[in-house]
Amino acid sequence: MTEIALVTGTSSGMGMHAAVELARAGARVIATMRDTTRSDRLLAAADAAGVAVDVRALDVTDHAAAARVVDEITAEYGRIDLLVNNAGQGGVGTAEQLSMEQIRAQAEVNYFAPVHLAKLVLPGMRERGHGTILTVTSVGGAVGQPFADAYCGAKFAVEGFMQSLAAVAERFGVQVRVIEPAAVASDFVQNAVRPTEIGAYGELLDAYVARTTGAFAKAQSAADAGAEIAAAALSDEIRFRWQSSDVATAFVGVSLADPDGSRVRAFTAPWIVTDRSA
Ligand SMILES: NC(=O)c1ccc[n+]([C@@H]2O[C@H](COP(=O)([O-])OP(=O)(O)OC[C@H]3O[C@@H](n4cnc5c(N)ncnc54)[C@H](OP(=O)(O)O)[C@@H]3O)[C@@H](O)[C@H]2O)c1
Repeated sequence: MTEIALVTGTSSGMGMHAAVELARAGARVIATMRDTTRSDRLLAAADAAGVAVDVRALDVTDHAAAARVVDEITAEYGRIDLLVNNAGQGGVGTAEQLSMEQIRAQAEVNYFAPVHLAKLVLPGMRERGHGTILTVTSVGGAVGQPFADAYCGAKFAVEGFMQSLAAVAERFGVQVRVIEPAAVASDFVQNAVRPTEIGAYGELLDAYVARTTGAFAKAQSAADAGAEIAAAALSDEIRFRWQSSDVATAFVGVSLADPDGSRVRAFTAPWIVTDRSA
């Protein structure tokens, strides 16, 4: 059966490559982006790979638009089997440098948007007993990092939501997963929101930027990370937590004793055993 895949944030980076890789693997891909006039790179990559993708407009923070897009796809294709929540935005700044508006904006795109899309596709997936929801989080979803307070806060939040959902969704045949990239060469750094007020933090921020620049000099390619995202989305393995590279696995391992999520799964799954399922 052809998988019907909805991918967000496909104008650049990992989302663009993941969309093409999913299509190469045989999925029917609906590739969404905020501004469809920026679809050239995606269409060229799809063309080069000899596949087609269906490009549609979606700003993931527009919840009414998200509901409309999910309805349209369901009406045209009959269902959505695969949601790849890839759209996201970086943000640099420590607490004092961030306005509540900036912190909320990070939560809107990196937390509320993937959560809302998951809620939209879940009823159909549950009814059919089939589906996968994969959210591209970050090593920053497991390791809090200096000058990434709002970004890591939102990525931690979405990981917590998805891991909580995973145990229940699995009982209805729906896989809920996250994939955590480390540094990936994409438009991410250029698109990240930066602080306007430096305050007492100039030297520390300079040191952070120098360290991050070093990490990005050795970044994974977006094509490679995109292929890992597609593989995690299509895998038959029952597994919550994925990373896009060995570097990312080592990174999250600093914080987690459970890099593939199997220990949390084994720990929480017995909590929802019922008389019917025992
Ligand atoms: N690059 C890294 O080092 C890194 C590491 C860990 C995790 N990540 C995560 O990986 C994912 C992909 O990032 P990337 O590295 O490929 O960066 P990217 O090239 O900047 O791609 C991010 C994509 O998200 C889209 N986007 C942003 N806000 C959106 C919105 N409100 N609605 C719809 N689309 C929106 C962007 O679209 P526009 O073109 O419209 O801005 C862009 O296509 C993100 O979730 C990011 O947090 C990245």
